[in-house]
Amino acid sequence: MKKTLALCAAGVLALAVGSTASAADYVGAEKCFSCHQAQFNDWQASGHPWKLRKVDKARYAKLPLPPGGWSWDDISYVIGGANKKARYIDKQGYIITAAKDGSEVKNQYNVEDGSWSFYHKGEKKPYKCGPCHMTAYSPEGNQDGLPGMIGTWKEDGIACEECHGPGSDHVAKPGKGNVKIDTSAEACGKCHQRGGMGPQPPAKGGFIQHHEQINELKAGSHKDLTCLTCHDPHKRAIHAKNNCAECHDGIAKKFAANIHGKQGTRCVECHMPKVTKSAISVASYVGDVRTHIMKLNTDPKADMFETVEKDGKKSTYAKGFVTLDYACLSCHASRDKQWAAKAAKGFHK
Ligand code: HEC
Ligand code: HEC
Ligand code: HEC
Ligand code: HEC
Ligand code: HEC
Ligand code: HEC
Ligand code: HEC
Ligand code: HEC
Repeated sequence: MKKTLALCAAGVLALAVGSTASAADYVGAEKCFSCHQAQFNDWQASGHPWKLRKVDKARYAKLPLPPGGWSWDDISYVIGGANKKARYIDKQGYIITAAKDGSEVKNQYNVEDGSWSFYHKGEKKPYKCGPCHMTAYSPEGNQDGLPGMIGTWKEDGIACEECHGPGSDHVAKPGKGNVKIDTSAEACGKCHQRGGMGPQPPAKGGFIQHHEQINELKAGSHKDLTCLTCHDPHKRAIHAKNNCAECHDGIAKKFAANIHGKQGTRCVECHMPKVTKSAISVASYVGDVRTHIMKLNTDPKADMFETVEKDGKKSTYAKGFVTLDYACLSCHASRDKQWAAKAAKGFHK
């Protein structure tokens, strides 16, 4: 009898644990601060939480108002603005693509040089950017009941629980085991991709397009590394670990004696040049996002991109290496590929 009771109790307990686990709810990043200040502060300073912010927070972030007669009272949300560019959302939930009176004006703000670009000039552009900019996205409904906002979510931006799952159970019973950790490249790649997570990075206008870090990574010899090999998931990209020497120590030692090494040039200046473009291109061969394709092709005739035709549709992709115009001429602007090729062949020999 006693035994049955105990079994019963265990059964109830298991049920209870099972049901609370599935009923765990989203509590918001602020709730995590008290116990995880280091992670919270790093995250707060990174682009993830900036990805989508209500105007009452965003208007104090030193971003300018879009031109064309808009005031902060006409804006509901700001998209980005932490790193490359910002776009603005009106009170109906549509991305602003014109002046307030409907006339033509540029209203994507470019952080690097303070310039403005057209974004879908004059179109009625719903905010249909899920699931990459928010926490716990659902395609159903409209956030805040605004017709232009497609889908609903629990928290603006990429907050703790987008990566760690709903946290109510963990907050109630802090410890390991009741909070999700996914260390795979795919956990990051679900947003840092374009057209799937395969090794073919889509390109346009002489640059790889942005948010393709997993496609770029899969295209090269680092395809088996995870993002966490080099990144702390809570920190800004500029704090990526300076760990090339851990795996390429022979090259790193020799490089210290090279003219570039002596000047303090980092490995990434040649191996992760800005071949990728988010907001603007700074020069002919300089975009504004570092690529994760690290292989350099020293043939001056090589072309970084290929255009393939499938079902009558042409698509351009990066081939999985960087050519010398992008790798060298950003600094050696007065030279050409032939010059670079002479110095590049057997560079570390
Ligand atoms: C009341 C304090 C408290 C709060 C609030 C809290 N945690 Fe924790 N958290 C802990 C403790 C304690 C651990 C276990 C640390 C250890 O054993 O090293 C932990 C561990 C973790 C871990 C690591 C788990 C592992 O398996 O290594 C993650 C991730 C985490 N918390 C995320 C969160 C998130 C996200 C929130 C907000 C939703 C949050 N925590 C809120 C106390 C808290
Ligand atoms: C972009 C996804 C992502 C976001 C956003 C994120 N984390 Fe994490 N977090 C991770 C991953 C992945 C790990 C495992 C890191 C590892 O094993 O190297 C981790 C690890 C942790 C740990 C274990 C200790 C450590 O630092 O490795 C804690 C605690 C934690 N996160 C708390 C938080 C809190 C609190 C927030 C929000 C303020 C947050 N995380 C936001 C992905 C994320
Ligand atoms: C839900 C979608 C999503 C997930 C999951 C995600 N990211 Fe991001 N990530 C973004 C977006 C969107 C941005 C652009 C934010 C900005 O700059 O405003 C970004 C920016 C970044 C940056 C640049 C931030 C800065 O301020 O320098 C790094 C580095 C990064 N992510 C790494 C990771 C890693 C590592 C993981 C996995 C642990 C991950 N991301 C998971 C969407 C995501
Ligand atoms: C497949 C996921 C995905 C989708 C869909 C997506 N983005 Fe992003 N976006 C990202 C990631 C990841 C980044 C940062 C990494 C990068 O730019 O290489 C980013 C960066 C941005 C930035 C720059 C942020 C900053 O602080 O500099 C803006 C602005 C932006 N996206 C707007 C949009 C808009 C508007 C839409 C919808 C029309 C959209 N994105 C759809 C993943 C996505
Ligand atoms: C071999 C190391 C390595 C791996 C693996 C790696 N990264 Fe990076 N990543 C870096 C370095 C180094 C930078 C440049 C930091 C700097 O600007 O100083 C960077 C920059 C970035 C940036 C900002 C690019 C820019 O210029 O705006 C994003 C976003 C990013 N990484 C995301 C990812 C994601 C997502 C993954 C996994 C799919 C990943 N990284 C894998 C080393 C790595
Ligand atoms: C965790 C180990 C690891 C780290 C960290 C790492 N690499 Fe690699 N790298 C490899 C491996 C493994 C290969 C393939 C075998 C080889 O060539 O040694 C490779 C290949 C390469 C190649 C050859 C090109 C190609 O794609 O075939 C280049 C260039 C390179 N790495 C540069 C870098 C740079 C620059 C960094 C720092 C930002 C870095 N690596 C960080 C492990 C690493
Ligand atoms: C981040 C900037 C930067 C990048 C990228 C760069 N270099 Fe340099 N390079 C320098 C600096 C600085 C010097 C030393 C100053 C000088 O003498 O011009 C230098 C010197 C040289 C020299 C010797 C001096 C000369 O002008 O003949 C050669 C050869 C050279 N670089 C080749 C290359 C090649 C090949 C690449 C691409 C694979 C490359 N560099 C990429 C900055 C760069
Ligand atoms: C000035 C530009 C430049 C810098 C900076 C640079 N490299 Fe390279 N690296 C090259 C070139 C060019 C090649 C291609 C050589 C070839 O194919 O003959 C190369 C090739 C490589 C390779 C492929 C294997 C090989 O021996 O060809 C690895 C790995 C590598 N570099 C790692 C690094 C690391 C680690 C650093 C920093 C310690 C670094 N590189 C700094 C220009 C550079």
